[in-house]
Amino acid sequence: MKKNKIALYVAIVGLASLFILGSVYAQDDINSLQHDIFSTRERPAAIFPHTLHADDLAIDCLDCHHIYDKDGENVWEDTEESDCTACHGLEADGKKLPAMKAFHDNCKGCHAKENKGPLTCGECHPRKK
Ligand code: HEC
Ligand code: HEC
Ligand code: HEC
Ligand code: HEC
Repeated sequence: MKKNKIALYVAIVGLASLFILGSVYAQDDINSLQHDIFSTRERPAAIFPHTLHADDLAIDCLDCHHIYDKDGENVWEDTEESDCTACHGLEADGKKLPAMKAFHDNCKGCHAKENKGPLTCGECHPRKK
């Protein structure tokens, strides 16, 4: 009986940690972006290796993710909204840029500033072979 209980405990802990690890490391699985709000796409999905940016290049999460409080302070934390299109819609809304511009300004802005990373359409939106 005791052995069975231990085995059950191990199974539950194992499953629980798989679940937790799965959610913590979900962003590591992102390699491209294709949002539903662009219902009639003009370009193939954009390549975006999240691990390369966040881990290998060690870019600060807050360089890309944000939630601004009323003083304009970026108070984003890992558990909070990470879908850019949750706030940036197809059209501009107050200070919120339209989604395509929000992505392009963020991605290309840094690549241009750093003089590294793709700047041409086809490098980010490669045609499928
Ligand atoms: C170079 C920009 C950039 C950096 C740096 C970055 N992220 Fe992201 N992250 C993104 C983008 C873009 C997405 C996809 C957003 C979307 O789908 O609208 C994303 C998605 C996510 C998601 C959602 C995962 C999912 O599966 O939906 C999480 C969680 C996340 N990032 C956490 C982090 C954490 C933690 C850091 C810092 C260690 C970080 N990000 C650094 C740009 C970045
Ligand atoms: C919780 C809502 C929210 C989410 C999620 C969000 N944004 Fe924003 N974003 C805003 C608001 C509000 C502003 C305007 C800030 C201002 O000018 O006061 C803004 C501004 C921007 C700007 C202009 C420069 C700056 O940082 O102020 C860019 C570029 C941008 N967002 C890109 C992104 C990207 C890329 C993502 C996803 C990784 C994202 N946003 C997610 C609300 C959001
Ligand atoms: C804060 C800076 C920064 C931001 C923001 C950023 N990048 Fe990058 N990105 C880089 C740098 C630096 C490199 C070059 C890495 C290298 O060549 O070693 C790069 C490289 C890339 C590459 C080439 C990857 C490869 O395997 O060579 C792609 C694709 C890319 N970025 C897409 C994006 C997209 C899409 C976004 C916006 C969602 C984005 N990046 C936002 C800094 C940034
Ligand atoms: C640094 C990477 C990068 C470059 C360079 C880039 N884009 Fe994008 N683009 C993105 C990202 C990221 C999105 C948001 C992807 C998504 O979620 O659908 C996007 C979205 C789009 C969209 C909206 C979705 C659609 O297919 O209708 C269009 C149109 C677009 N880009 C056109 C262009 C054109 C034209 C160029 C060249 C002038 C270009 N992009 C250059 C990263 C890039």
